[in-house]
Amino acid sequence: MSQPTIESILHENRTFPPPVEFSQNARIKNLDEYGHFYDKAKADPQGFWAELAETELEWFQKWDQVLDWQPPYAKWFVNGKINISHNCLDRHLTTWRKNKAAIIWEGEPGDSRTLTYAQLHREVCQMANVFKQLGVQKGDRVGIYMPMIPEAAIAMLACARIGAAHSVIFGGFSAEALRTRLGDAQAKLVVTADGGFRKDKVVPLKAAVDEALAHNGVESVNNVLVVQRTKEKVHMEPGRDHWWHDLQAGVSADCPPEPMDSEDLLFILYTSGTTGKPKGVVHTTGGYNLYTHITTKWTFDLQDTDVYWCTADVGWITGHSYIVYGPLSNGATTVMYEGVPRPSNLGCFWDVVEKYGVTIFYTAPTAIRAFIKMGEHHPNRRNLSSLRLLGTVGEPINPEAWMWYHKVIGGERCPIVDTWWQTETGGFMLTPLPGATPTKPGSATFPFPGILADVVDLDGNPVPANEGGYLVIKHPWPSMMRTVYGDDARFRRTYWEHIAPKDGQYFYFAGDGARRDQDGYFWVMGRVDDVISVSGHRLGTMEIESALVSHPAVAEAAVVGKPDEVKGEDVVAFVTLEGEYDPNDSLAQELKDHVVKEIGAIARPGDIHFTDAMPKTRSGKIMRRLLRNLAAGQEVAGDTSTLEDRSVLDKLRGGA
Ligand code: PRX
Repeated sequence: MSQPTIESILHENRTFPPPVEFSQNARIKNLDEYGHFYDKAKADPQGFWAELAETELEWFQKWDQVLDWQPPYAKWFVNGKINISHNCLDRHLTTWRKNKAAIIWEGEPGDSRTLTYAQLHREVCQMANVFKQLGVQKGDRVGIYMPMIPEAAIAMLACARIGAAHSVIFGGFSAEALRTRLGDAQAKLVVTADGGFRKDKVVPLKAAVDEALAHNGVESVNNVLVVQRTKEKVHMEPGRDHWWHDLQAGVSADCPPEPMDSEDLLFILYTSGTTGKPKGVVHTTGGYNLYTHITTKWTFDLQDTDVYWCTADVGWITGHSYIVYGPLSNGATTVMYEGVPRPSNLGCFWDVVEKYGVTIFYTAPTAIRAFIKMGEHHPNRRNLSSLRLLGTVGEPINPEAWMWYHKVIGGERCPIVDTWWQTETGGFMLTPLPGATPTKPGSATFPFPGILADVVDLDGNPVPANEGGYLVIKHPWPSMMRTVYGDDARFRRTYWEHIAPKDGQYFYFAGDGARRDQDGYFWVMGRVDDVISVSGHRLGTMEIESALVSHPAVAEAAVVGKPDEVKGEDVVAFVTLEGEYDPNDSLAQELKDHVVKEIGAIARPGDIHFTDAMPKTRSGKIMRRLLRNLAAGQEVAGDTSTLEDRSVLDKLRGGA
């Protein structure tokens, strides 16, 4: 159960061909068929995407140009008019899917709800009309800070319907994190709930919104729409706060979808980077609709009888693309679950699989490692025979966890799709197609058709097989991020300048190292920047450092990741204090709580080490590599000759 190291992955050479019966019934049945699509897309990307856009989606008006590529800015389906909520809802109502379950929702306390496509459409239209009543117009931004309840998806679709952009903020983020994100997007409305249930506790979401709005920078927010979930008492600010059920009662369910330009803003989603300030990743409408639609259909080999469940939260890109938009655009049944394994029910995921006959199950390696720890008896006690396909996302999966997933959850009959992608890519970049691709545990295998992926050196030259390099994409794709909200320069600098363009070739690089093996399989090796992955969640070390330094006791902070059996990585902070403060346990606790307050519980440092000085280079740069070694309890490896003061290292060794 150790972390995937380059070593462990290099030694992995087992291959699992798709089960014959699976392939026979699959949409894409073998590598030749995959190769056919891949080659076709490579030879004529625009023709490939245009044909799919034509056959898979409904447009109000056709585009004049498939792709306008002014590197690094792409426009897809130029002048096409479309609405993603129409493709996710209205077009299914004229078919038998009208009465098919669109969302099956299970609440943590055991309550549940099923919304058919017709019912979901109705609720979305009502919420869209309520938004309009509250003054939201096309082009405005709406913050969504919700538990995992159907209204989270309803709010997203309602925004899309009227052409407002949503910015979903994960319900685990703190009031302060919420405030900065709402402020950056200048949101006009916030949709929230009184609270949510998480791990047998109530999360007071509305109170966090109140706190966020009490501070500066969010004056743009003039209304808050509150969904009743926990029924806990909350403060309702007269004139600003409104109960959803009150407004829903009096509103029409007739709300035609706004014809949106293909390139109109669909949503902003904040993600961590290498500086303190989170980036607002911008996604637009037409290309995102197409790409999430087709990747859901092919990668999950979606059939009309499937009951599909992705365990992510809608607050992350996985929830956007593969709980809400991709599945609904395909007319699938998507399961939403409010709970997570918790002391009162460690086996709750398997209860959900059994109860609803889930056929496709998509989760994260960190969850799988936690399941292994909880014990096989939990899944073994439930009937999981409905499952036919498994998926993973979020971090490299260690081969041991892959094998456990394959045997214990998949009963050795379900293919596993290990999907590599990012908030910025909108949809899967590297992934097996389950009926076609022989899988190797720990490899995300090959690029999706239309994706030109490569592993290159800093000059953009492909590296030889089995050598590590930078994972890049060499041709624009429909769901690529368009920019960083309000900061084009940061967009160019972060993603397009790390590897300089050459001979007109641009390289999209977003931080991962990888290698390709002798068979061409891609093996993602993890981030090469100062981003760490805690339970599959991306955290910028700078972001946590900024939070620490905002505490009066802290003079300087350096944050690194330390390998953790279940979480993948844990946060470790090295801190120097202002003169008048003494290092002690209660201050360490106070600093941990401070990070939770500034960012949220996901960023809470596991360890805080107080130190008199940081190991720095002569130019003043903190040598994180050394701190990483120390945090992991390893010998300090590699060159230390650039250290400005070598005694710092000895002191840290003694103290850390
Ligand atoms: O490092 C890669 C890792 O997660 C990062 C993207 O994080 P985020 O934008 O939060 O999106 C997570 C869900 C798509 C990537 O840069 N990552 C994601 N999927 C995989 C992965 N690493 C290895 N294998 C994967 N399948």
